[in-house]
Amino acid sequence: MRRFVLLTLIGCGCLMLGTMLWAAASGGEATFHSLKCYICHKPDRRSAGPSLPEIAKAYGGQQQLVQYLQGESAPLIDLGKHKVMERQLEKTKEISAAERQDLANYILSFGEK
Ligand code: HEC
Repeated sequence: MRRFVLLTLIGCGCLMLGTMLWAAASGGEATFHSLKCYICHKPDRRSAGPSLPEIAKAYGGQQQLVQYLQGESAPLIDLGKHKVMERQLEKTKEISAAERQDLANYILSFGEK
């Protein structure tokens, strides 16, 4: 019985640690997917919206991109479809500041490739 309790505790500990590591590593990516940004922004080519590397190239740093995602700065890339993106910004305005930062970092990571 004691051994069972011990094994259960170890199991729970590993699960929690795993979840924490996962969240730290992929917070931005998870948000990008849960908000369905991937429908219009692809890692390899322009689709409905600019590709992720295109966005990463246009934005110099995290702060600037976070500002855009907060709806506080004008778009840098103009495909003449800002109305489409404006609706999406309603979603990125609602997430937490930390989530917006992670999201910005995720997008910017495509500039390194
Ligand atoms: C329905 C399609 C669509 C979805 C979904 C979408 N976008 Fe966009 N996005 C666009 C289009 C179109 C543009 C280009 C707008 C323009 O012409 O100014 C754009 C532009 C952008 C830009 C560049 C802005 C600039 O400075 O020019 C960023 C950053 C961005 N989107 C992030 C996101 C994020 C984050 C999400 C998820 C919350 C998202 N998009 C979801 C269509 C979409």
